[in-house]
Amino acid sequence: MRIAIIGTGYVGLTTGACLAAIGHEVTCLDNNAAKIETLRQGKVPIFEPFIEEILEEAKDRMRFTQSYAEAIPGSDVVFIAVGTPSMADGSPDLRYLREAAAAIGEHLGGGFTVVVNKSTVPIGSGNWVESLIRESRGGRNGKVEFAVASNPEFLREGSALQDSLYPDRIVVGTDSPRAVDVLSNLYRPILEQSFTAPSYLKRPEGMAAAPLVTTDLASAELIKYAANSFLALKISYINEIGRLAEKVGADVTLVAKGMGLDARIGTRFLQAGLGWGGSCFAKDTAALVATAADYGLGMPIVSAARTVNQQQRERVVEKLLGELKIIKGKTVGLLGLAFKPNTDDLRDAPSLDIARALVARGVSVAAFDPVAMERAKSEWAGVSVKYCETAEQVAEGADAVVLVTEWAEFQDLDWEAMAKSARSPFVLDGRLFLDAARLAKAGWRCARI
Ligand code: UDX
Repeated sequence: MRIAIIGTGYVGLTTGACLAAIGHEVTCLDNNAAKIETLRQGKVPIFEPFIEEILEEAKDRMRFTQSYAEAIPGSDVVFIAVGTPSMADGSPDLRYLREAAAAIGEHLGGGFTVVVNKSTVPIGSGNWVESLIRESRGGRNGKVEFAVASNPEFLREGSALQDSLYPDRIVVGTDSPRAVDVLSNLYRPILEQSFTAPSYLKRPEGMAAAPLVTTDLASAELIKYAANSFLALKISYINEIGRLAEKVGADVTLVAKGMGLDARIGTRFLQAGLGWGGSCFAKDTAALVATAADYGLGMPIVSAARTVNQQQRERVVEKLLGELKIIKGKTVGLLGLAFKPNTDDLRDAPSLDIARALVARGVSVAAFDPVAMERAKSEWAGVSVKYCETAEQVAEGADAVVLVTEWAEFQDLDWEAMAKSARSPFVLDGRLFLDAARLAKAGWRCARI
């Protein structure tokens, strides 16, 4: 099938690469000329495991362009995967979605096309996109057949390709049975797991098929918000339990295990620590609360999860004050900047709030991240952080080290040597990830968030 994808961010590029890998002809469009040029040169503007490999494998079926006239006419499916960043009141900024819908409307033609909202958009956006497309066609000649569908993505950065090729489910929301047929055909190799798995992205053992959930537009749109908010509140729940666990002398990781093995609860997303960051959870929980408010509804559970998450970040300063008493003039090293391991994404990363709070209290902050350093240097120009060349350097002369992102390699640092180079070997484990007994042997005093 012929596919166009508008937006080459994490979602658009991953979706494009996976659809090309399973045999479709994909044109990726972005209005950012530099991004398109980079992609044409075979380079990748984001960090995502195996994205280079899959793009290389699918390159004969992929094109990159800035031109709607090139991408849209004749496409069977057009995905809108543009950014929908949060505005100050928590509601998403739909400027890029509006632009994309209008441009699609101008260029549609050459047979039935399904326009798919892949971006996380407010409930009701499917109908809005349809009206924008009709409006932009205006008095244009020629009958154009199209339908709008919502097909939310559930991919996690860092395992985006795995999540796209081997999804727990695919959700398609539309009022058009014809669009359901088109999208079922599009996803058939994934639904039936009939594609040849790439050597570097093995099919999970026992996976024979992925379920397709078909719904109306509004339900599909709400599924995305409801799923992300539920995952976010699972994390805040375990963090709230973690605070009580600390008071009563219990170990929250054991509590999470004991709870999670109840199949009704599940062990995933019960890892306590600094809480969630990234492009989705903060934005989607805020949008859910904002949408509910439009209908005069409160969302007390989701709102509380947001509060708990913010407090987890504030606990870093509280814990450092508890240990060091005076932090003004001290040096604190941050291990990890990305909002989670295996990505260079810094959106809503706890590291930024932590660095800002420490700098505001007169602390010198040193930091290291295996992949997000360059991004931090350019995106955090206003924050005074010393960027180290190695993880070990973070400890040099430090009064405390805070583990912010649980990159696997941080477990195997030369913690003995680091303890010697630190002014005071104190480590605050923000992800309950380090081996406290080993660190104690290496000379560190350890605390958990
Ligand atoms: C999320 C959703 O999982 C995905 O389905 C959606 O489409 C996009 O948003 P992502 O933000 O890439 O994906 O990462 P995810 O792995 O979900 O982690 C989100 C944040 O939660 C990270 O900051 C992570 O560190 C934190 N987290 C996750 C926890 O603190 N504890 C956990 O147990 C799990």
